[in-house]
Amino acid sequence: MSSSELVGIDDLMKEPYVNVLCYPEPDLNVAIKRINELKLLKVNSILFEGKTKIGRLGVVGKGCVSVVVKALTDFGISVLKIRRTDANRISMKREAEMHLMANSIGVGPKFFESTENFILMEFIEGYSILEWLKRLEEYSVNGTRKVLRELLDQCFSLDKLGLDHGELSDPKKHVIVSKKPVVIDFESASISRKVSNLTKIIQYLFIGGPMAKKLRQLLGIEDEKIIIDLIKNYKKEMDWISYLKLLSTLNLIPQSID
Ligand SMILES: Nc1ncnc2c1ncn2[C@@H]1O[C@H](COP(=O)(O)OP(=O)(O)OP(=O)(O)O)[C@@H](O)[C@H]1O
Ligand SMILES: [Mg+2]
Repeated sequence: MSSSELVGIDDLMKEPYVNVLCYPEPDLNVAIKRINELKLLKVNSILFEGKTKIGRLGVVGKGCVSVVVKALTDFGISVLKIRRTDANRISMKREAEMHLMANSIGVGPKFFESTENFILMEFIEGYSILEWLKRLEEYSVNGTRKVLRELLDQCFSLDKLGLDHGELSDPKKHVIVSKKPVVIDFESASISRKVSNLTKIIQYLFIGGPMAKKLRQLLGIEDEKIIIDLIKNYKKEMDWISYLKLLSTLNLIPQSID
């Protein structure tokens, strides 16, 4: 059974909440410092709920560098990304910068504020891209096309911006499909690497990912070799024309969506 627990931030220094605030090594001094940061972020309380568990407490997610929980501010529910005490980076600063850059072109959950150990952002309610792909039968083909086109457009925008997400070759944890698809987690993003957002996501969706064949069938794409050739062409040209050729072959041009 799923449970939820709302905890004011001053109580986060107590057991068992401190185990989430300072995961995986609870420490009172670290907790006090972190609670002060939460005050700067104007977080009033944490809502422990979610399928992932730390002890008995539910959280939204848990990764190699962070624990993600729901947080309440005066403006409602947000997502709070908490730096793990054993993370291989000393602060959230770089991720915050990358996240803000993505937001500047309308990509990613809305970034609200960050401190050394936290990023506060919009909560995205939805399915992971893999769960969404497994439910394809439930949607209309046009609805599916709209989501895919929107996701590809976002990846093309990231490419044009020069921001490489870095983890889109296996995006199951990094794209949430809500009303729209939302790319999350800019922890591995870079502006110095060669960008490959669009090619990685197309490769996953239509060529190598677990639902590629089914998706090709659904969209009436007969030949995967053409997609592979057009991916190679896009890698070379990286322009609007080579993107349009891909969209057209994937039957995702605007005329075919409406
Ligand atoms: N804004 C958000 N809205 C809803 N859920 C989110 C949001 N941000 C993160 N999550 C959830 O929390 C999980 C972990 O988040 P994220 O990938 O940013 O953390 P991470 O520590 O970098 O994880 P990883 O090591 O797996 O990359 C995500 O897979 C997702 O399920
Ligand atoms: Mg990550």
